[in-house]
Amino acid sequence: MICLGIETSCDETAAAVVRDGREILSDVVRTQVELHRVFGGVVPEVACRAHAEAIGPVVESALAEAGIGADGIDLVAVANRPGLIGALLIGVSAAKALAWALGKPIVGVDHIDAHIYANRLAHADFDWPCIGLVVSGGHTSLSFARGPAENERLGATRDDAAGEAFDKVAKILGLPYPGGPEIDRLARTGNPRAVEMPRLDDGGPDFSFSGVKTAVLYRWRGQNLGKGKKPKADAAPPRVEDLAAAFQEAVVDALVSKTLRAAKERGARSVAIGGGVACNSRLREKMQAGCAAAGVRLFYPPPRLCTDNAAMIAGLGSALAAAGQLSDLELDAFPSRAGV
Ligand code: KG4
Ligand code: ZN
Repeated sequence: MICLGIETSCDETAAAVVRDGREILSDVVRTQVELHRVFGGVVPEVACRAHAEAIGPVVESALAEAGIGADGIDLVAVANRPGLIGALLIGVSAAKALAWALGKPIVGVDHIDAHIYANRLAHADFDWPCIGLVVSGGHTSLSFARGPAENERLGATRDDAAGEAFDKVAKILGLPYPGGPEIDRLARTGNPRAVEMPRLDDGGPDFSFSGVKTAVLYRWRGQNLGKGKKPKADAAPPRVEDLAAAFQEAVVDALVSKTLRAAKERGARSVAIGGGVACNSRLREKMQAGCAAAGVRLFYPPPRLCTDNAAMIAGLGSALAAAGQLSDLELDAFPSRAGV
């Protein structure tokens, strides 16, 4: 089964060709990051226009790189939820037009489930069930995944997504967008214990990152709002490396402890992570150590398959088709996971 995947949920226009849900024949990603950098974040209208311009050439490149013509495709898979609605609609419209013109089946794919599926493309020995943690610029989701598209939601963020928190903190610290990789880099030379940060694990499965973001803002302004301490407007701000390291450590600790608790509660033998923040070196390091101590296997994809891509969409689409879960030309796009 040769599947063409299409992904336009945020700021990457992507198309890929995958054979039998496992073998990547091509994987084309055209990022819009330069367009959004001047705004310090993704502007939905700018994203839609760029997707509309790029989708045709990106699909053509994916087919050319795979060495097949459009008539060599057996299935069209498209991310239709969750994401920026206008952006998703560009991909869904293109996928429907292709499926109709070629007379091939179409399948709508949940983008978050696809981030977990990326591990299947990267590791021959990855399998379900697992605890899935998806941490990206738009989403933070903890789930118990019984199969490729059988996810029981355990937790999500109550405010910012993990990557959004990295990007906003980077903005406070005057670092370029996207801020996650910048903080990751700076934190390597920082001391996380040099600055006090709120602990983010409340014992439950949901996440909240807005408190730590505010703590960074105050500390950067030179105000010490630590417990029992009076604000001092004239206190010297900490070193940017130390602040970056302290923030990252607080976020990583919460992600690791909540994921491991979920694994213990569900008796899961493996943990799979995905999304752009799964590139974070400290998260990988601490999750690896935590999983090893708990006797749980950790899977994460290479960076290219962590960030948004269409290979994971084609992969999961193939698995859905194999399970008989096809869509039709009534397929719609939805901003949320629930399909509303
Ligand atoms: O999955 P992705 O490409 O897009 C969304 O679906 O949102 O993830 C992008 C996010 C951005 O917020 C970026 O700052 C973050 O992933 N990111 C990182 C790292 N690399 C990318 N965050 C922390 N550390 C990194 N090394
Ligand atoms: Zn994503």
